[in-house]
Amino acid sequence: MDYKKFFSESINSLKKSGEYRIFRDIGRIAGSYPNAKFNNITKEENIIVWCSNDYLGMGQHPFVIEAIERAMKEIGVGSGGTRNISGTNLYHVALENEISNIHEKEASLVFTSGYVANDAALSTLGSKLKNCAIFSDEKNHASIINGIRNSKAEKFIFKHNDTNHLENLLKKVKIDRPKIIAFESVYSMDGDFTPIESFVKLAKKYNALTYLDEVHAVGLYGFSGGGVAQEQKIMGEIDIINGTLAKAFGLIGGYISSTKSIIDFVRSFSPGFIFTTSIPPAIAAGAIESIRYVKDNQQLRDKLKEKSLLIKEKLLAANIPFLKTKSHIIPIIIGDSKLCKKAADELLEKHKVYLQPINYPTVPRGEERLRITPSPLHTDQMINELIDALIFTWKKLKLKKAA
Ligand SMILES: Cc1ncc(COP(=O)(O)O)c(C=O)c1O
Repeated sequence: MDYKKFFSESINSLKKSGEYRIFRDIGRIAGSYPNAKFNNITKEENIIVWCSNDYLGMGQHPFVIEAIERAMKEIGVGSGGTRNISGTNLYHVALENEISNIHEKEASLVFTSGYVANDAALSTLGSKLKNCAIFSDEKNHASIINGIRNSKAEKFIFKHNDTNHLENLLKKVKIDRPKIIAFESVYSMDGDFTPIESFVKLAKKYNALTYLDEVHAVGLYGFSGGGVAQEQKIMGEIDIINGTLAKAFGLIGGYISSTKSIIDFVRSFSPGFIFTTSIPPAIAAGAIESIRYVKDNQQLRDKLKEKSLLIKEKLLAANIPFLKTKSHIIPIIIGDSKLCKKAADELLEKHKVYLQPINYPTVPRGEERLRITPSPLHTDQMINELIDALIFTWKKLKLKKAA
């Protein structure tokens, strides 16, 4: 085997396809979000970030930074171990209580990331519930897909957000067989909401557990930032909620929230929870501060909605095509990996607008896109400059306009 040849040829063909990923070195500036520095090879430039999942800018909020600093000075940096062996601290416990509070659940469990939370929880539930069948939306995130795959449970993929198809599949499985329906509340690449209530009704009818990923919704929807299920007044009916501390709450880590017995079960049987060092307690302290702040500040959610509506109005007026969904996420479909990268390069280098191209495998081939994620901190002037930059780029690259 010529390893060198194999690796270099694989990378070369990726480069030719336009799908080779270039990580932009973005220098965030504490307290100045969405302003940032683009560390170009030759020089540093001021840019505006338009594609971050730090949806509320909490990753730079002074209260969060202070909480982390305080805790770090008090107890140091690393946690010292797995949760079982020396790695549980009062901040981990308090964080899990805070999470249970926003989701109005009995208990919660924190993992090192949202990805790990999905993978660990679904693989454990799907493998330990004897003869389990898992029903999964075709657009579910890689972490859900992996969790299901690792569980080795029988899986049934239903068409995206399609209640009828889900019901047809549920009918095929005996009523007394354990079942899990796994889905997300906001799909991060399309920005569309899920008919959660219809899925819950089906779950009850066919005796299935519901597993809802609210990673792109926690902090952003619902009166206390509990997510879309809270906003739709159905949160109490969801069996297991998955969320992240890394997006609207601005840090790192993920979690599940559920009944005491389900949480205790995953805590006791999940290798992805048991065999890894817990998150630094100072990060947990920051997450507590961030969750509380976001919970108490409805104006953040209102402002995010306002900014996202304003951008959509201006895109419409400018004939820039975008997916007309109701969430804060605004995808602009370009449909070609090379053009998508070209547009992103042009926006960054000529207009100081940072929109990372989203290519395969994050989205299917032919659906390559730019994904705008506004925050309450983007000013109206920044929005005007974004729209001008898009109009200019569309013209220059002769990109498809809205019909
Ligand atoms: C739907 C969904 N679930 C889970 C995750 C993983 O979350 P984290 O970034 O905390 O690992 C992501 C990441 O973007 C996601 O989009």
